[in-house]
Amino acid sequence: MATILTLAGDGIGPEIMTQAIDVLKAVNEKFSLDLTLESGLIGGVAIDATGEPLPDETLARARAADAVLLGAVGGPKWDAIERSKRPERGLLKIRGELGLFANLRVAKLYPQLANASSIKPEIISGLDLLIVRELTGGIYFGEPRGIRTLENGEQQGYNTMVYSTSEIQRIGKVAFELAKTRAQAAGTAAKVCSVDKANVLEVTELWKQTMIQMQQAEYSDVALSHMYADNACMQLIKDPKQFDVMVTGNMFGDILSDEAAMLTGSIGMLPSASLDESGKGMYEPCHGSAPDIAGQDKANPLATILSVAMMLRYTFKQEDAAQAIEQAVSDVLDDGLRTLDILDSSEAGLKQVGCKEMGQAVLAKLI
Ligand code: IPM
Ligand code: MG
Repeated sequence: MATILTLAGDGIGPEIMTQAIDVLKAVNEKFSLDLTLESGLIGGVAIDATGEPLPDETLARARAADAVLLGAVGGPKWDAIERSKRPERGLLKIRGELGLFANLRVAKLYPQLANASSIKPEIISGLDLLIVRELTGGIYFGEPRGIRTLENGEQQGYNTMVYSTSEIQRIGKVAFELAKTRAQAAGTAAKVCSVDKANVLEVTELWKQTMIQMQQAEYSDVALSHMYADNACMQLIKDPKQFDVMVTGNMFGDILSDEAAMLTGSIGMLPSASLDESGKGMYEPCHGSAPDIAGQDKANPLATILSVAMMLRYTFKQEDAAQAIEQAVSDVLDDGLRTLDILDSSEAGLKQVGCKEMGQAVLAKLI
């Protein structure tokens, strides 16, 4: 028996989580997975209830669980709170405390959604790329950090971007290994593009050198290329299919993964996995809490539902169950169901649905 801790969080979090839990329960039964679900508090709702964005109890239960499924955190209600107590801090803390250093974000175009993207269909058709983002280091976690007052009375904000060789090596390994697995499955040659800003930042110069050394020592069967982060942003729009696996640090990965998400039509479609050294993970949609549409049954639950599929694949090694969910999502898109974010109003035969109807349609394909 394994335990999954669900943390719905804020904004649209509870709505999308309700749908994802229904789907999870259905596959649990169908594939006799023997999974037990628990729920806990994180983010703004946790602040309201306990004063902390990540209460000790939630952290303890997350440590004890075999996997965590997260909705989203944050919202204007908590924006005025002191920085160290904001909802986002809870998310960063759980990533850090659980050692979830490897964040996998897959940007895969569902052919049914080619017209929902703002990019021309021929540029993105068949797109399937994986961004491997380092998640517990870099400028997000580097010390010193803060806002200080200078002698002249002016304020100065500062952060520190740091990566040690071992941190680079462990994320590099994840990227190289996944590139090999993906290439094997697709019958193509394995390739990794490492994204840095080595022309300016020493920290990423070390990043680049470390990637080169790893490739030479252990991964000569994987083609390694390097790209500056600004150029990578441009190339993702110009010719995204040149990439298979991209590996990069925390901040560049945050930015590039939002961009990659939009290639697929909507960030509402993008799931993610955040894994520790043993493969235990937290799974969450790449999008945020979307407070502007919260509680209105407008959110797209598919990224969270697809995060459940990633969980079954990576933590529980249940490939059949994972594929069943992905197929169900593809089937409802075939049926023409669209939440607002993926609706192309010029296309005939589509039906606009809310979060609940979309989730229940996926569920219906599974039972
Ligand atoms: C993400 C989000 C988070 C991040 C925020 C909510 C702290 O943008 O998961 O990409 O910056 O990592
Ligand atoms: Mg982000």
